Amino acid sequence: MVFFSSLKNLFSRKDKKTLNTSNLRNIAKKKALTCSDSQQNSKNSTAVNSPVNSVTNNSCSGYNFQFKDGRRYHADSDVAYILPNDDDEADRVHQQHWILQYALKSNFQAPLSDALEKGITVLDSGCGPATWTFEMGEAWPNSTFHGIDASCVFPENIKPANVEFVISNIAKEIPYPDNTFDYIHQRLLLLGLTNDDWENALKELFRVLKPGGYIELAEPDLQDLENMGPILRKLQYTMSDMLKSRNMPNKVACELESRLIKAGFVNQKLKITPLKLNHTDKAGTLLWDDYRQAYLNVRPVMAMIVPEWEDPEVYEQYVTACGLEAEKNKSNVNWYSCYAQKPTQ
Ligand SMILES: C[S@@+](CC[C@H](N)C(=O)[O-])C[C@H]1O[C@@H](n2cnc3c(N)ncnc32)[C@H](O)[C@@H]1O
Repeated sequence: MVFFSSLKNLFSRKDKKTLNTSNLRNIAKKKALTCSDSQQNSKNSTAVNSPVNSVTNNSCSGYNFQFKDGRRYHADSDVAYILPNDDDEADRVHQQHWILQYALKSNFQAPLSDALEKGITVLDSGCGPATWTFEMGEAWPNSTFHGIDASCVFPENIKPANVEFVISNIAKEIPYPDNTFDYIHQRLLLLGLTNDDWENALKELFRVLKPGGYIELAEPDLQDLENMGPILRKLQYTMSDMLKSRNMPNKVACELESRLIKAGFVNQKLKITPLKLNHTDKAGTLLWDDYRQAYLNVRPVMAMIVPEWEDPEVYEQYVTACGLEAEKNKSNVNWYSCYAQKPTQ
């Protein structure tokens, strides 16, 4: 929870449409973002618009996890997601949200402010601990927000009344009827979906989006950073090899536009924003904190490619050297955000 205090200073700007961050921080501080706490009150939740299919679980009760080396992971053999889903990872994902909001100056790119003000139905696909979903729910009270995730990592009960969650693998089934949503947001699924999963998920997302509705996908280019030195390059390209070995796309950020077109969406618009990694200002330092933690979290699968990284100390030293090199070289991560529409006919 250390990051909450450092972020308080950095992210102190408050305007109506970016958020009231204090509520969420307080909620997270109280550790309300764990499934075990929320299960106790599950009868009190207010359904906004329940999903149709009973194969999926919209409650955390009965949800299974698996544990490895002291970390908690999902236990669904059909889900390719690599990262843990415990409280430490939830903290990292929360922090990542504030950094992105600060660097990108917005929570979304699609031209939807007026529609959100009037009231629309929104899906946050792969919502994780739901920082974006919560913030959007608070900022746009006339709209309804549905978060979907393969893991039970979202708060079930302490949430705005216009926010609802469901557990489901988006590559298998999104448990809502055709043409349900006006807007679909999906961010940072790059360590979660194989090539086939991306295709299936986009098919499902197309199905549940209304004609004329907007979809927005956002991912960083994990392989190639601007001004990348040899130390960081080895880490990034090992990450690429690791993803390829799992049939996951290693540069999905650069493919968002073409994947959307292939899935049938039209009127696509792509924006690429360089984000500072460990240099120049506080946002750069905090993004490195986030990347560093994410690198450490993927060590078990990185060590399958570089065996000497089996040793946590050796790996941690390597990651630290990457941070110093990124600082010296002023390396930047390229952040890709692409929105598009479902054709009206
Ligand atoms: C890095 S987190 C990002 C969370 C959120 N989108 C954000 O930007 O803050 C990725 C999330 O995707 C979820 N995920 C991965 N594969 C998935 C799948 N096949 N179906 C649904 N959710 C998935 C993970 O459980 C995790 O919570």
